[in-house]
This record gives sequence, structure tokens and C-alpha cells, in this order.
Amino acid sequence: MRKVIAIYPGSFDPPTNGHLDLIERGSKIFDRLIVAILRNLDKAPLFALSERALMLEAMTEDFSNVRVDIFDGLTVDYAAKVKAGAVLRGIRAISDYEYELQMALMNRRLQPNLETVFMMPAEQYSYLSSRLVREVAQLGGSIKGLVPDLVERRLREKLDPAVKLQHARDLKPRKRG
Ligand code: PNS
Repeated sequence: MRKVIAIYPGSFDPPTNGHLDLIERGSKIFDRLIVAILRNLDKAPLFALSERALMLEAMTEDFSNVRVDIFDGLTVDYAAKVKAGAVLRGIRAISDYEYELQMALMNRRLQPNLETVFMMPAEQYSYLSSRLVREVAQLGGSIKGLVPDLVERRLREKLDPAVKLQHARDLKPRKRG
């Protein structure tokens, strides 16, 4: 039987529990799912590509049919390269619809055989976005429960280098006196 490979493209800056929710749903309906991080030269990201890839790899290590990759150029070209038949995207609210519809139809025009599949994340993530997570974290608000613990730690380290130093100290084996 033909196996369906899907890509889940995005910026993931940073990855959130909403992304993870969608990855879990996607991993159940596709044979293989590739989480594809866009190398976007126009944007100055908070997290480097390699940092985002490491976080996503850790978040998805329990899903045997999911892998993480980095791509540049057109999504349709990347999909062809990895032989994907579908693009997975999340729709949270009506406000996402217009942008997602435009992208899906443009991608269809560029590559008619590539289908976009929309899935809805769990209700509790319907207001969640990477942009809001960045903003709340940067302004000192709590992002607990919105991102995996490891992402929360990386965010705190990124925004406050003193926290990184403390984490490094906590991990260092103490000398016995
Ligand atoms: O997480 P994002 O930022 O909403 O993801 C947007 C993404 C990466 C899916 C979109 O910008 C994209 O596909 N970029 C690749 C370039 C491309 O194919 N552009 C035409 C899309 S219609």
C-alpha cells in the first residue's frame, strides 16, 4: 500500500504545545510526518535554526514516524524533494483561515498534486502563537503550560543569561568537601 508522507512547515520560533498537539494528531493520520523548519532570511528569529531543531527533536522523540528537518525555498519544492503528498497546517480560529487559504491555494497552483490538510489543535491552544509566547516571556509573564518545559527553560535562558549560568551550575557535579 502507498505510504503518505506529510510535511508540517513553519517557523517554530519557539515551538509551542499547540505545535506539539498538531504533530501528535498528524502522526496518527500520516505514515510519516516531517516537521520542516523554514530558514527565513527576512526575519530575525529569537532562536537559531539549530536551537529550534534541537527543541523539536526532543519534543518529538516519542513519535517514531516523525522527524525534524530544515528547509529553504518554496514549500512545494521541499515537499517534492522529500516525496511528500501532503502539507499539514493548523487552523486555530477564523482569523487564521484567510492566510491559510491563500497559502494552500498558491501551493496548489504551484503543485496541483500536493494537498494541504488542516487540523485543529486542542481548544486550550486555540489562542496560542509563538509570537505571543515570545512577547509574554520577554515581558516577564508566565508561559507555563503553553510550551514544553524544555522550551520554557530555553526561553528563560535566552532572555536572562544569568539563568543559563545558574542551570550550568546546577548541572555541574559538586566537589565533596
Ligand atoms: O509558522 P509560519 O511562519 O506561519 O509558517 C509559514 C510557512 C513557513 C508555512 C510559509 O511561510 C512558507 O511556506 N514559506 C516557504 C516559502 C513559500 O513556499 N512561499 C509560498 C507559500 S504560498
